Amino acid sequence: MRISRAGWAVMTVLSTLIVLLAARYASFDPSAFFTEQRDTYLRHELPLGVHISGAIVALAVGPWQFSARLRRRCPRWHRRIGVTYLLGCVVGGIGALLLAPVAYGGAVARLGFACLGVAWLVTGAAGLRMILHRRVADHRRWMVRSFALTFAAVTLRLLLLAAEAAHLDLRTSYAVIAWLCWVPNLLLACWFTRAPGQPSL
Ligand code: HEM
Repeated sequence: MRISRAGWAVMTVLSTLIVLLAARYASFDPSAFFTEQRDTYLRHELPLGVHISGAIVALAVGPWQFSARLRRRCPRWHRRIGVTYLLGCVVGGIGALLLAPVAYGGAVARLGFACLGVAWLVTGAAGLRMILHRRVADHRRWMVRSFALTFAAVTLRLLLLAAEAAHLDLRTSYAVIAWLCWVPNLLLACWFTRAPGQPSL
């Protein structure tokens, strides 16, 4: 699967913008926290810090793995960035699973984030396993799926902006968006990476 230059540029710019937005948490200044969750985050600073530091790395470096030029010209860098990306996923994923039980939006949102966290860890592990077995095409498929889930950080924030613009109730829309931010991404990634001759997934 190859993505167009324009598609790659949009994906990279959006990912970088969310990385910059999330980096405000590095100050640990509570006034920068998601307002509705400020008290919760103050009580869970360690998992929050673990989650954000790993997740930021994965989102910042992930798009560069889709650059065919970088892969071709500097395969060593592709491997180094890949290891960095996977470490980001593991650290960010463990932090996400610790945060999911206290997420905003009630049980539906919490379950949505927990499932996303598990799917994130599983797709990354599958991508690693495939490349260790030198199954390059399968590695590519699983890594596309993994990044589609990492990109949920972008779709989540775009959907929250849309919900705010539509004056929807934050708590209810947040619970729906906790699922909508990643299930369509994953389905699309599975569709685009389907094996030749297979109709879907
Ligand atoms: C893809 C798997 C991910 C999962 C399962 C996940 C899960 C979570 C959960 C459960 C929370 C707490 C939400 C709440 O309090 O309601 C959270 C917050 C947060 N996550 Fe993630 N996350 C993921 C990816 C990312 C990525 C890639 C970033 C990169 C920037 C990120 C950045 C943040 C930030 C900044 C917060 C604090 C809340 C905010 O200001 O929006 N997350 N995440």
